[in-house]
Amino acid sequence: MIDTHSHLFEDEFKDDLLECIERCKANNVNQILLVGFSFETNDKAQALAKEYDIFYPTAGLHPSEAASTYLDDFNKLVDFINNNKIYAIGECGLDYHWTKENIEYQKALFKLQCELAIKLDLPIIVHSRDAQQDTFDIIKGYNGKLKGVMHCYSGSLELAKEYVKLGFYVSLGGPVTFKNANEPKRVAKEIDINRLLIETDSPFLAPHPYRGKRNESSYVKLVLEEIANIRGISVEELDKITTENAKRLFKI
Ligand code: NI
Repeated sequence: MIDTHSHLFEDEFKDDLLECIERCKANNVNQILLVGFSFETNDKAQALAKEYDIFYPTAGLHPSEAASTYLDDFNKLVDFINNNKIYAIGECGLDYHWTKENIEYQKALFKLQCELAIKLDLPIIVHSRDAQQDTFDIIKGYNGKLKGVMHCYSGSLELAKEYVKLGFYVSLGGPVTFKNANEPKRVAKEIDINRLLIETDSPFLAPHPYRGKRNESSYVKLVLEEIANIRGISVEELDKITTENAKRLFKI
């Protein structure tokens, strides 16, 4: 298995990261994308990836980082990416949940990262919260030239299929295991299996039965098991397909 989205550089893991990695290996989780979202976390992802070969680092600027300084911030990100090996740009995107005051900066910063991803032929990892339509409109604007993944996808099945048409992948995380998660379960059942990825978003969004607790990458197995159950296929088969999907998108 590959956990395509984690933040194991966070303080939540400072005391037992090594044990977490051991639990991953014991559960056949052998590759983990370490997703940066700010200058500090982009650095941390690089540092950890140099230390442990299970990690594949990314770099990006989250919409919560979007401010009037976005152009300078973006140029600093470009410098960083020119000097460090990364496997994707992101996470980046739009988030209207916490604030709508910086929407224009969010959109501008997101578009710059999309254009950089196209230029560098890297996939993009997209965060979208309470901003479904605007996110889709921006991505659609690149006419299929932009490749990437909708991380911890929580929108409708219909929209997920539109993303797939644009060449995107859809990633499901812990919420698909929640009892009341009707739409994620529909997506899990119906989406093109060759465009499906699995993730944890550790330390956030732990799957059932750990809901509300710290999430960790070994729990991606619970996401895989839930989707296999929903689709009525074996865990082994879904593991093989989602692992191939992740390897194809991130070139790992
Ligand atoms: Ni994340």
